[in-house]
Formats: sequence, structure tokens, C-alpha cells
Amino acid sequence: MRANDLKKVVSRVSAGAKLIVVSNREPVVHERVAEGVKVLRPASGMVTAIEPIVRAVGGTWIAHGSGSADRLVVDERGRIGLPQDDPKYVLQRVWLTRAEEDGYYYGLSNTAIWPLCHHVYTRPHFSRRDWETYRCVNKRFRDAVLAEAGEEPVIVFIQDYHLALLPRLIKEARPDIKVIQFWHIPWPNRETFRICPFAEELLDGLLGNDLLGFHIQYYCRNFLGTVDRGIESRVDYEQFRAFRGGRPTYVRAFPISVDYEQIGQDVESPIVGQQMDGFLKELGESNGRKLFVGADRVDYTKGIPERLRAFDMMLNCHPELKSRVTLVQLAAPSRTHIEAYRKLNDELDDLVDEINWRHQTETWMPVRFLRAHYDYYAVLAAYRMAHVAVVTSLHDGMNLVAKEFVSSRTDGDGILILSKYTGAARELADALLVNPYDIDQLADVMYSAYLMPEDARRQRMEKMRARVAKSNVYRWGGRIFEEAERTLSHKVS
Ligand code: G6P
Repeated sequence: MRANDLKKVVSRVSAGAKLIVVSNREPVVHERVAEGVKVLRPASGMVTAIEPIVRAVGGTWIAHGSGSADRLVVDERGRIGLPQDDPKYVLQRVWLTRAEEDGYYYGLSNTAIWPLCHHVYTRPHFSRRDWETYRCVNKRFRDAVLAEAGEEPVIVFIQDYHLALLPRLIKEARPDIKVIQFWHIPWPNRETFRICPFAEELLDGLLGNDLLGFHIQYYCRNFLGTVDRGIESRVDYEQFRAFRGGRPTYVRAFPISVDYEQIGQDVESPIVGQQMDGFLKELGESNGRKLFVGADRVDYTKGIPERLRAFDMMLNCHPELKSRVTLVQLAAPSRTHIEAYRKLNDELDDLVDEINWRHQTETWMPVRFLRAHYDYYAVLAAYRMAHVAVVTSLHDGMNLVAKEFVSSRTDGDGILILSKYTGAARELADALLVNPYDIDQLADVMYSAYLMPEDARRQRMEKMRARVAKSNVYRWGGRIFEEAERTLSHKVS
């Protein structure tokens, strides 16, 4: 499916209703810099996937205006047409106070729900104050949706865990509005979820949706199991739906993806070649050295320390590799006001120092830890320089770095080491699948990637590329809207 096919599907399903997409993170962030205003594309799998869809379909995207220059570039209602040089949709920014951002985003969303939904042994913290702020901010988003809708028919497509209460709030105000939500992170089993003091309210909020999507069937089952025990409702496992107050919420798996074709085109642009030269120069690398590349937000779910430890172990076990391999880690700073993230950053600094100190020579540094926000083209350049891309998440709903890497390898080469605990591992069986908790195994797999002959690399890459080409992000969007069409027209029995 292509952008145009998706546009047709959405206009058929919405039957003239305007599309309103709602998320916390905005598609572009405007930041003040010395030279004026800089436009950043945030490091977010959600943005990577949703932006091409909204660009293709049009409508309004409501999101938190989090950039220091965001207010400078919008009109008096907080709106801006995007892309700025050729607008295809409207971004409506919602302004939050520091206290709101603190309680809703850093607090409930990322100190409670995020660790609750990821099995990585990072304990969630629950605070009633954050919860109250989360509720208020969800209401702020509801007001923005209702203002945008006016009296018009609209279809609302909500993203992620920051806005779990929004579906119910919209339905209470406007029962006629069709509400779809996609949950971009895992959903845990019911034993895990029930420790949340606000479990029932969160479930009630989500059951305001007409259709609720997760990446894989396992999360759908976990969700229905949680609903079954956690809130008064009727769960229908035959049709995968849950009734609350007589109204159904259909629960379905839609594995998210990327704009395969566009990435393939963009990676061929001269700017990527320039970025590659820039990187090699900055790193003092020659083309002959094999690069292992990681590109992540600095998040404790991503398994970055595990990756570093395994690389260290590989160098210990195979000293002949010294000077022949470098691990380049693009590390986008993320959520650094949260203690667990600050600790992770400290841990990473120590680890990188220790590994480099142990192995480095006068002309070679084993680990290049590049802590910065790299733009899209720079990330593509890094993928293209990679002998191996390393994705070692301890738990990840999908992981779009894996799919972006595969899409960028129009040259047909490159190896993907991929954690079994990502949603992507279900589709990319030709990656080298690893358990990132098993450092010995990860080190062995890194070594076998180093040795892998070209024809084996190409065979694997070809299969992965065929898979991502077929299941691109437009297909993902198309399946969601087609499913909405099918389920919303169901007679409720
Ligand atoms: C995950 C979430 C997204 C989020 C992204 C980046 O992929 O599912 O909703 O945007 O992480 O995190 P951030 O907190 O920077 O938006």
C-alpha cells in the first residue's frame, strides 16, 4: 500500500469526517538557538510512523508544544501548517505549564506507566499528585479536540500511553465521535498491571475507544485479560472486544512500520553521503574498519549497557579484533529530569570510559558514544556506514530503528542484531536474534556478525527488506482504518 491508497481508505472510512490525530509528542519541535530557530524531528518511533500518515491523509495533529521556540512560529491559536514549505496538515499545539509537564509527562506517563508496561526491572513509582495532573492534562487535550471538531463530524486517532483517559472524555462529551487509539508500547500481563493504584480509571478511559490497537496479539490478550479482572465489563474472547456500559471496544494487533520507500529514496540523497564523510572524519575512522552501530534514545529499556558489555567481552575474547571494529552509539538524550534516566547516563559514562581505557590504542578508540540529537539524515548515514546495526532492547513494543535500518540498506548489505524482546523480532526472523540479558551470547553473536560472509549477509538482508517493503507504514494505517470500518459497522450482539 502507498500513501495515496491509504488516503483513499481513510477518506472512505471517515466518510467526509475530518481526521484529528492526538499525541503528546509533536512531529517537529522548534528550538531557540544562537542563529535563530532550529527545527528538530524528535527521536520518537511514534513520530516516525505517524508523520507520513498524517502527511498523506491531511487533517489536524494536536500535540504538546514542547520546544523553546514553539510559540514563536505559530498563529494566535497555536497552529502551524506542516511541512512548513508545503503544508499538508495542521499542527495544533497544546501549551502545558512546567508543573503540568512535570506531573503528567515526567511523572505519571514516564515514571509510572512506562516502567509498568516494560518488563525491565525498573520499578514504577505512583503518585496521586501526578495522577491528578495527568487527569487535568488529558482534559486539556479533550478541550483541544472538541474545539477542533466544533460541530463537524470528525474521527479521532489517539497515540499512546500519555492519553489513556482521553477516549472516555471525548465519548462523554460527544458520543458520536469515532475514537481509535494505538498503544505504542507493550501491555503487561494482568498481575503486573494490577499494582497500579489507578488501574481501573486507566482501563475505563481506554474502554472509551471504539478500536484499540497494539503491536502484537500477545499485548491484545494481556489487555483483555487485564480488563477481565480489573474492571466491571464483559470480555468477548471470540471477537476480541470488551463491553463496558453496553458499548464495545475492539482490540486488535497492528504491527507498526516505517515509510520503506521514502527512506530508500532519502538514503540515496547527496546529504547522506556528506554526512557519512563527516562522521568518518569526526571519528577518525577509515572505511576499512567494521562499524557496529546503535541509534537509540538513552532509555533503560534499550539495553545500551548490555550492548557495551557484550562488545567489551568480544574484544576480551578476540583481541585480534582490536583496531578492526568500533562501536558507534548515537545516543539521543531523553527524559533526563527523571532519576532513572540520570542514573543510566552516569552508568553509561563510566562504562564507556572503562571499556575505552581497557582497549584503546594511540590510533583507535573502541567505543564512540555520541550523545546528541542527530537529525534524520545523520541517522541514515550512520545506518549506511554500519557493518552491523545493534538493537538490544530489553523490552520494546516494536522498535522502528530495526525497520529503518533495513529500509535504508538499498545496497543490500548490512547485518541486524535484534533483541528477541522487541515486537520487530516477530517479523524480522532473518536478523541475528539475541537475548540481551545474556551478555556471553550477545558477544558471540557480535563476533559471528563480524565474521559473516557477504553472501550470507545479503541473503538475510534481502528477506528482511522484502518483509518491510510489504508491511510498510501505509499498510499499517490502512489496516487500522479498514478494521475501524468493519468493526464500527458491526451489529453489537
Ligand atoms: C516511545 C513512545 C512515544 C514517544 C517516544 C519518545 O516510542 O511510544 O510516544 O514519543 O518513545 O519518547 P518521548 O518521551 O521523547 O516522546
